[in-house]
Amino acid sequence: MAAADALAGLRIVVSAGPTYEDLDPVRFIGNRSSGKMGFAIAAAAARRGAQVLLVAGPVALATPAGVQRVDVRSAAQMHDAVLAGLPADVYVGAAAVADFTPRQVAAGKIKKRDGEDGLTLELVRTRDILADVAGHARRPRLVVGFAAETDSVDSNARAKLVKKKVDLIAANRVGVEGSGFESDDNALVVYWNGGEQALGPAPKTELADRLLDLVAERL
Ligand code: PMT
Repeated sequence: MAAADALAGLRIVVSAGPTYEDLDPVRFIGNRSSGKMGFAIAAAAARRGAQVLLVAGPVALATPAGVQRVDVRSAAQMHDAVLAGLPADVYVGAAAVADFTPRQVAAGKIKKRDGEDGLTLELVRTRDILADVAGHARRPRLVVGFAAETDSVDSNARAKLVKKKVDLIAANRVGVEGSGFESDDNALVVYWNGGEQALGPAPKTELADRLLDLVAERL
């Protein structure tokens, strides 16, 4: 008989997809995250016997088998849903959460006005879900973040590992073909205090399992 998977029976919270920050009733600030990476992690964790809560931003993906899903829209809603999902053994933050949100949502559609050739939006910082989970009184045993980088992947990812006080950071290059946003494939470098491991390039479905292998090893 095969040995039980180390993740079997554990509670794992995964965030996935983009957040939409509303400007007015018809416009928002969003990003290109499809949710594929986070959904693949949630699906793989459920296949391995974990109890999975998937907090999903606005995406067009089916809920993986055996996964409990909560849909959210904004960074603030994702923050609340993830923290309401604690306690958990593991948190994986694969969502592309907006760093800034409009200070105010206009009640009506923002109009062009004669004589104005521009529009200034006032944005405020969102709360950092990953850092708040890592600093929480009911901190999961393992907190895993992602880092989406266009350059200096190694130094930026290591800086996020330290600053957000997480256990693992999976860095991916964005803005290039075949990895990061929207693609079915990705390439990750996973960093922890004192080590790192490259995973892929490979389909996100396969990388999800390789990442969970590292999670299981480090629990
Ligand atoms: O969804 P796909 O199309 O499959 O694309 C996958 C992906 C590129 C979105 C994914 O692999 C990825 O990199 N996710 C993190 C994207 C991101 O927002 O990275 P960041 O470097 O800006 O943020 C670092 C970490 O902090 C992330 O774990 C993020 O979830 C978290 N964060 C950021 C801001 C915030 N307010 N709260 C957070 O929790």
